[in-house]
Amino acid sequence: MKSFTLLLLILSFILYPLPSSSSSLFKHRLLRTEPSSTKQTETKISYKTKYLQQNLDHFTFNNNLPTFPQRYLLNTDHWDPSSVGPIFFYCGNEGDIVWFAQNSGFLWEIAPMFKAMLVFPEHRYYGESVPFGSKDEAYKNASTLSYLTSEQALADFAVLITYLKHNYSALLSPVVLFGGSYGGMLAAWMRLKYPHIAVGALAASAPILQFEDIIPPQTFYDIVSNDFRRESVTCFNYIKQSWDEIASRGQTNDGLVQLTRTFNFCQQLNSAEDLSGWLSSAYSYLAMVNYPYPSEFMMPLPGHPIKEVCRRIDGGPPGTSIPERIYEGVNVYYNYTGEAKCFELDDDPHGLSGWNWQACTEMVMPMSSSPDFSMFPPYEFNYSSFEEECLKEFGVKPRPKWITTEFGGHNIHATLKKFGSNIIFSNGLLDPWSGGSVLQNISESVVALVTEEGAHHIDLRASTKNDPTWLIEQRATEIKLIQGWISDHYQKNKVIFDM
Ligand SMILES: *[C@@H]1O[C@H](CO)[C@@H](O)[C@H](O)[C@H]1NC(C)=O
Ligand SMILES: *[C@@H]1O[C@H](CO)[C@@H](O)[C@H](O)[C@H]1NC(C)=O
Ligand SMILES: *[C@@H]1O[C@H](CO)[C@@H](O)[C@H](O)[C@H]1NC(C)=O
Ligand SMILES: *[C@@H]1O[C@H](CO)[C@@H](O)[C@H](O)[C@H]1NC(C)=O
Ligand SMILES: *[C@@H]1O[C@H](CO)[C@@H](O)[C@H](O)[C@H]1NC(C)=O
Repeated sequence: MKSFTLLLLILSFILYPLPSSSSSLFKHRLLRTEPSSTKQTETKISYKTKYLQQNLDHFTFNNNLPTFPQRYLLNTDHWDPSSVGPIFFYCGNEGDIVWFAQNSGFLWEIAPMFKAMLVFPEHRYYGESVPFGSKDEAYKNASTLSYLTSEQALADFAVLITYLKHNYSALLSPVVLFGGSYGGMLAAWMRLKYPHIAVGALAASAPILQFEDIIPPQTFYDIVSNDFRRESVTCFNYIKQSWDEIASRGQTNDGLVQLTRTFNFCQQLNSAEDLSGWLSSAYSYLAMVNYPYPSEFMMPLPGHPIKEVCRRIDGGPPGTSIPERIYEGVNVYYNYTGEAKCFELDDDPHGLSGWNWQACTEMVMPMSSSPDFSMFPPYEFNYSSFEEECLKEFGVKPRPKWITTEFGGHNIHATLKKFGSNIIFSNGLLDPWSGGSVLQNISESVVALVTEEGAHHIDLRASTKNDPTWLIEQRATEIKLIQGWISDHYQKNKVIFDM
């Protein structure tokens, strides 16, 4: 069969299964059917939307460059009026900030008890925070995109915090950073790069080690596969067998017509690879959001969604073909509400497409699929072909060593033990990104909180009445640690604050 490249570039989310040959690298992005028809459950949140003009390039003094408005959401309802209350700062990641704010209920829930100000800044080039006046202009070519980097984003955050502290006469307020996924990476890195600006960071599901030569490249897909295997070996095997079956049917036009019909696509499939990419995205996202209760982060889903997918894949009556089984299974992901009339391959409701550029420049995260342990088609990450795709797509050559040069990553334990403090790395082992995260305690104050049954930054989500004990305990530990950082800050600054 054709060798498939599965490449997953995202962080919080975008998965780009990378078909090797003809079809282009960035075809599959976050896909979702009928985004408008599915109702979002949202944490009750209220905020003012504000903008700060930021320098496009913090690291040069080029007068010819424009500034751009960075959007941020601000809530001061609970903030201590004596102006020393903490500032909780969510490091916005690769999408619309409102969406992240709605899915970070933990911050909204703990703000009153801490008398904290809440700030949700948007990451540059996402949502409304785009330079050059519009997303089209900002995403035009490699020159206009070249200010989309994590270093510039951290500098935006630092400038915004400094501005807010002055604006609110809050010079003594301790700043606590939060973030999930790529936002968690930013939170951890920001604590290390700007220790004078923030007292600590909760880095949830932050794969800061998912880079060249640090962890084995097959880690991510092995974890996704294990999440399916632990529910059902037959389900795992059906999925593993499905790729060949789909590839062989996809070789003829008739076969493609049939697959299009089986899977109810709105448009005729151009290749079996498109379908395989769409399926592997669903499996990977399912592993990320395999929460123990119903949720609507990526999609409206039941609790333990992988269990449900496997129940349907396994449950077809004898004689059900493998593609039909697979269709029944992924319907849980793409159509749990039952409202999708037909499926679109390409859809990006949360505006995550800028991640493609980031993945082709700094965020090179090698991913392979092992023939032995993975349910995905075998694939070995090939840097040369990755580079070719990036040159073709953006005219840019990736710098796979840059992130670890800039932020570290190799020997992280030894480095952070000596040098870091006040960082929580929280992870759930069901989350495929956990394999690229910090899972062991490094020092007294650089700690790993690991839950066996957790998925992608579940701790940042709002509490529910179905929260399992391990989650309640995890959040309690986080609160205790954050309280410690804050009291420490007050003590050092001789501030009296009654928390
Ligand atoms: C990118 O687009 C800008 C704005 O239209 C233009 O000035 C610039 O020359 C282009 N750069 C490249 C490398 O094509
Ligand atoms: C704070 O911001 C407001 C408007 O954003 C501005 O009018 C005011 O001058 C600022 N105050 C300080 C102290 O920077
Ligand atoms: C979604 O589910 C409903 C109800 O099961 C079904 O009628 C519909 O055909 C499904 N949509 C797609 C695109 O398969
Ligand atoms: C990697 O990709 C390059 C460029 O597409 C190709 O020439 C090379 O054969 C590939 N290497 C392997 C080991 O597949
Ligand atoms: C790390 O230390 C904390 C206490 O600070 C503890 O709760 C946690 O279980 C430890 N993590 C690991 C992975 O051992």
